Amino acid sequence: MIQITKANDLLAAVSKAKEQGLSIGLVPTMGALHEGHLSLIGRALQENDMVVVSLFVNPIQFNNKEDLEKYPRTLEADLELIKDEESRIKNQNTDRLIAFAPTVEEMYPEGQPTEVYHFGPVEEVMEGPRRPGHFSGVAVVVRRLFDLAQPTRAYFGEKDYQQIAIIRALLDQIKYPIELVPCPIVRADDGLALSSRNMRLSPEARAIAPTINATLEQAAEMADYEEVDDVKEWVLDTLSSFHEVNPQPNGLQFEPEYFEIVDARTLQPIAEWSEAGDLGAVGCIAVWLDGVRLIDIVKF
Ligand code: PAF
Repeated sequence: MIQITKANDLLAAVSKAKEQGLSIGLVPTMGALHEGHLSLIGRALQENDMVVVSLFVNPIQFNNKEDLEKYPRTLEADLELIKDEESRIKNQNTDRLIAFAPTVEEMYPEGQPTEVYHFGPVEEVMEGPRRPGHFSGVAVVVRRLFDLAQPTRAYFGEKDYQQIAIIRALLDQIKYPIELVPCPIVRADDGLALSSRNMRLSPEARAIAPTINATLEQAAEMADYEEVDDVKEWVLDTLSSFHEVNPQPNGLQFEPEYFEIVDARTLQPIAEWSEAGDLGAVGCIAVWLDGVRLIDIVKF
């Protein structure tokens, strides 16, 4: 593994690889790596000659200052995990895995970027209105990473389901010939979707957090015989009333922000199961627990 912090050094390494006709996989991350990220890195290593893993907490996609400040930063541990993943995947040439960890000044040398992206209906639902400017901030940094790493393929986890639709829309707009590779959620043994934010949960909150996935799995079964609106209502009620049925210490409770059942391609809410198009329907949820905002999805 090579660690690079300067944009020009990344460009130079990528240009050399391109001259040799190598394929490049990009795994954009904000660090605080877990098994979910490692599964993306492992897959990228298997499918490409060279892999760039970016580790950059992108300030312009946070619309909440406290969330940005509290975001875990664990660079040394991240680099060790990347090295372990590299040695786990055999037959890899060690100078073909680049960990790109720039500073904010290196990513945005001209200061706060002024470009703004709009993606229409796909950003007007769920996370979009609740986190103004978030997806534009994601698009700015991802486009910069595309420009620097010039990937053949880019890997994103399906936990951030709406983000994948946004990146698809970004690629449509900028017309870069990059293959978008959505990768399945990796879960803990108890079902909780892995997330860098999980490390902020207290032991008590971590113990009940798998209820989110368990509720969504039950919702998937209900879809066989219940209407869309009834499933939605049941999920929201089940989580909101969890602490009444199972009293928790310290007033711990689930506070769902939204649960939407949407067309898996357009992300527009559906009223009937038959409205879902070729990719089917997906349920997307955001829930507060113990001051931490957790998101998850279920495919119907
Ligand atoms: O999903 C994330 O971790 C971030 O939104 C991304 C894609 C790395 C951009 O900062």
